Amino acid sequence: MSDLALLGGTPVRDTPFPEWPAYSTEEEAGVVLDALRSGHLCGAAGGTYNPAFEEAFASWCGATGAVTCNSGSSAIHVALEAVGVGPGDEVIVPVYTYYASGTSVLVAGAIPVFADITPGESNLDPGAFEAAITDRTKAVMVVHADGVPANMDAICEVADRHGISIVEDCSHAHGASYRGIRTGILGDVGAFSIQHKKILSVGEGGVVVSKHPEVVERARAFVNLGGGTDTGVLGPNLRMGEMHGALALKRMTRVDDENRQRRDNADCLLADVADLPGVRPVPVGIPDHIEPVYYNLILAYEPDELGIDRKTFSDAVQAEGVPLRSGFYKPLNLLPVFAEQQAWPYLLEENKPSVARGLYGPGKCPVGEAFMEKGHLELKVHPPVGEREMWGAGAAIKKVIEGVGSLADREARDAL
Ligand SMILES: Cc1ncc(COP(=O)(O)O)c(C=O)c1O
Repeated sequence: MSDLALLGGTPVRDTPFPEWPAYSTEEEAGVVLDALRSGHLCGAAGGTYNPAFEEAFASWCGATGAVTCNSGSSAIHVALEAVGVGPGDEVIVPVYTYYASGTSVLVAGAIPVFADITPGESNLDPGAFEAAITDRTKAVMVVHADGVPANMDAICEVADRHGISIVEDCSHAHGASYRGIRTGILGDVGAFSIQHKKILSVGEGGVVVSKHPEVVERARAFVNLGGGTDTGVLGPNLRMGEMHGALALKRMTRVDDENRQRRDNADCLLADVADLPGVRPVPVGIPDHIEPVYYNLILAYEPDELGIDRKTFSDAVQAEGVPLRSGFYKPLNLLPVFAEQQAWPYLLEENKPSVARGLYGPGKCPVGEAFMEKGHLELKVHPPVGEREMWGAGAAIKKVIEGVGSLADREARDAL
């Protein structure tokens, strides 16, 4: 075995992984220019790209309708408003997610209550969800984390039994499905980010979808200043512009093919690392009724099996030319915006009973906290990443595991 690159050896790969989103086609550039030259730069000015994208995206998801807005965070906010979430309400949110899933609840004036993830997985634990329900719970937010749909049979059963709305944060899961149904319409309302890094990428943008016509209608009114001058309803202007709509309409035609490539990439690497010590797929084995899209490929790191900490391990794999990152998300219940309880919704009279329960702090979601702080490793598998990169990733991980003794020696020396 050659020396590890972190210790001065030759790396497995000497070319960087291709970046995502990697390319724009001439056709994509063409529709953006067309929108620009049309003179109708927003829907209110008669633009047609945005409405066409909304129709196409709704049909692709199997939804009754779709409403675009200016970001994924806004889409979650709009989705919450569309199912009637506001001051005095609690919304249960998984502890493992990007913090906008939680801050969007605050922006709607309600209180996020964080619930743990299922051991060995990265999605909401239905048991923890049920345990977090109070008489103030209005909705649960299901995040299909990293593009793997959550356990919707169990979550829907609990939500139905308690009369709780289901809001899906599908920001990682464009095109993923559960029992043949696409994310976004598995619950009452779905929110997608179409920000730069996402599976459908337009720079900044979001989409809200629903199978309920009245929810679509409420979402559409909310993004349009609450519905217009005659309604008496307050709302911001969150609309998306025509150039983004044009790009989204064109780019969505390649998402299904790209998702197939993501799955092939994930299958290739997961087969390669299946029997190795120290790393384990998250989740281990995906049931046939779930079709993931692998926004991120996640491995759980087991420090005790290899005797080095996660950072040393991921530094060593990265030195081999494979961008296996560690610890991207912090547990939401520990972030200051929640833990310090200074944002305006925490100060509202209606929310005082929730605040008084002492919702946050270390130890509230032990599975998620341990996973995020010690065990989480993430690799991007978006095309044009393909077999060649996946073989390199497998070889780099194996090489580091075989050479782990030299890294443990180094950690021990550094500790002196
Ligand atoms: C799970 C999740 N939800 C929500 C968002 C927010 O999306 P945006 O950045 O478009 O506001 C993100 C973005 O990274 C995300 O990963």
